[in-house]
Amino acid sequence: MDLLRLVLLFIHVLGFAALLGGLLVQLSASERSVNSLMRDGAGTAFLAGLLLVGVLESVGDPDHAKIGVKFAIGLVILVLVMANLRKPRIPDGLYYGLLALTVVNIAVAVFWSPAHAA
Ligand code: HEM
Repeated sequence: MDLLRLVLLFIHVLGFAALLGGLLVQLSASERSVNSLMRDGAGTAFLAGLLLVGVLESVGDPDHAKIGVKFAIGLVILVLVMANLRKPRIPDGLYYGLLALTVVNIAVAVFWSPAHAA
């Protein structure tokens, strides 16, 4: 089961890395939009995250408060990305909002004690 957790965590990290990469490549751009890296990254991170919760629930007692926060932030990111997929450009506020939410979710994951029971 730990191999499955690690494989899902690997996919999870690739997912949000793609999301973050899709955002950062547009940092100095004058016009920004939701690109395929952001779309596929947000979707992959969300799905792998949910599956990770399932694995953690089956092997221990994960930190539900931490997972709840990550789920909520991940869902907001996913909805905003999918809702603006077809727009030729997105407002700066949305762009910096998505960037901030992604960085906050990384910080929650890293600085809040591990989700999986020791
Ligand atoms: C953009 C959104 C997300 C980002 C940037 C993100 C970031 C991260 C990072 C950096 C880790 C590794 C932390 C570590 O191992 O110390 C992690 C692990 C984890 N994430 Fe996410 N995450 C996101 C969305 C989600 C969602 C939506 C869920 C599901 C509710 C989720 C559930 C988890 C779980 C359960 C782990 C722990 C895995 C473990 O300890 O074995 N994540 N996430």
